[in-house]
Amino acid sequence: MEKKELIYEGKAKKVYAMDDPDYCMVEYKDDATAFNGLKKGTIRGKGVVNNKMSNFMFKLLAEKGIETHFVKEISDRETIVKKVSIVPLEVIIRNKAAGSLAKKLGLEEGMELKCPILEFSYKNDELGDPMINNSQAIACGIATQEEIDVISDMAYKVNDYMKEFFAGVGVELIDFKLEFGKFHDKIILADEISPDTCRFWDIKTHEKLDKDRFRRDMGGVEEAYAEMMKRIGLA
Ligand code: TMP
Repeated sequence: MEKKELIYEGKAKKVYAMDDPDYCMVEYKDDATAFNGLKKGTIRGKGVVNNKMSNFMFKLLAEKGIETHFVKEISDRETIVKKVSIVPLEVIIRNKAAGSLAKKLGLEEGMELKCPILEFSYKNDELGDPMINNSQAIACGIATQEEIDVISDMAYKVNDYMKEFFAGVGVELIDFKLEFGKFHDKIILADEISPDTCRFWDIKTHEKLDKDRFRRDMGGVEEAYAEMMKRIGLA
């Protein structure tokens, strides 16, 4: 399969067409943004970490019966994926209070939740990805009830598998964001699963091992990404 023209460039990835229209190639960059692009920077080696960690997680989830867009890793930064039409929802699961939830409700970060939270944001950079509820998503034609049901069920399952996997390597999965896409009318897991899109805390020390170190100017960003690679056995 041959890589062809650039069809999309986002904040952290480039997407290229392939000669087979069912596939495309993702190239992970080292560029990092936060707060809807207001903060910009570079995290050296991030593209390699996010490519390899995402592919590792997608393979693990596929073994558990979660269908994903992953097809084949081509290089340190490049992967062939199924070309999906993205459902414009950011699907967030939270196991403990942190980030925007902690801020909005005045909670201490790390507070236990009685059950995991599932949230949706409407994927729209101009609007700053506003949070929406099921009823708004359905009424406004962003997703159907059936799509929301499938996505919610898959997201909770992904949480169960990922929480258990990361606990096994000494990492607490605080929260994360998923994106889903349609491939020939079937909803599959797409985008990435990486320290850019998850909050990872060391189970014992609660040290942050994710993009919050960049968002909050904490330093040790590259080291945190490298540590996550070590924990999952990829470095
Ligand atoms: P939040 O607490 O800022 O709402 O973030 C929840 C989770 O979603 C966190 O693990 C980081 C991830 N996330 C993204 O992947 N992309 C985004 O644009 C945002 C705002 C959060």
